[in-house]
Amino acid sequence: MDHVKLENETVLMRPLEARDSSAIQDLAAAPEIAANTFVPHPYPPEAASEFIQKGQESWRSGEAYVFGIIDKSSQRFAGCMGIHPAPEHNRAEVGYWIGLPFWGRGLATAALRLLLQFGFETLKLNRVEAGHFDYNPASGRVMQKAGMRREGLRRQYVLHHEEYKDLVWYAIVREDYEALPSAKRKETAED
Ligand SMILES: CC(C)(COP(=O)(O)OP(=O)(O)OC[C@H]1O[C@@H](n2cnc3c(N)ncnc32)[C@H](O)[C@@H]1OP(=O)(O)O)[C@@H](O)C(=O)NCCC(=O)NCCS
Repeated sequence: MDHVKLENETVLMRPLEARDSSAIQDLAAAPEIAANTFVPHPYPPEAASEFIQKGQESWRSGEAYVFGIIDKSSQRFAGCMGIHPAPEHNRAEVGYWIGLPFWGRGLATAALRLLLQFGFETLKLNRVEAGHFDYNPASGRVMQKAGMRREGLRRQYVLHHEEYKDLVWYAIVREDYEALPSAKRKETAED
């Protein structure tokens, strides 16, 4: 599956390319990204190129589909969003981050809507899920706006910065996705 491009009025999403490494290196180094994800901090000098290379390999093997997110209003690289299928259950887990200068402009929501469309319509998944730390409600809001539902709390589910942390767990199943108004499924409408 090459040359996939997902696009709406707000963002363009495409597989990572070598030329993204300096933007990723700059944006992913912020402590606010590491606090809410498994992006390392401090961000090592070669981490962005390795992440891109791994993303490309995973794309080829079908292990994960990692997209770069381009902010259409500035044409700048703004963040990453990936979907990791578990084929035996026909479901996938989503993860993402948006660089600080781009926060609060609807990019994550627009990107997640496109990624869910890719998951259900291209990958033909039955379920897409994601979790966020309880101190990161903005991410839960993004999931809600994209049509995901809160399922509960996975207690001490991950070891993050040497601390076991709960994850607030969200999911959307195919029937939820198909019941979304088409504006939420396919367009850029922002709540
Ligand atoms: C979480 C994150 C992806 C949001 O990206 P974004 O592009 O700013 O998100 P959007 O603009 O699409 O939407 C953010 C929503 O969260 C809301 N929000 C922001 N801070 C909030 C808070 N403290 N409590 C509740 N909601 C909050 C915003 O108001 C907005 O909702 P609204 O449109 O209803 O007003 C971004 O902040 C980020 O990358 N954070 C660090 C990494 C991370 O958390 N990744 C996700 C791991 S699960």
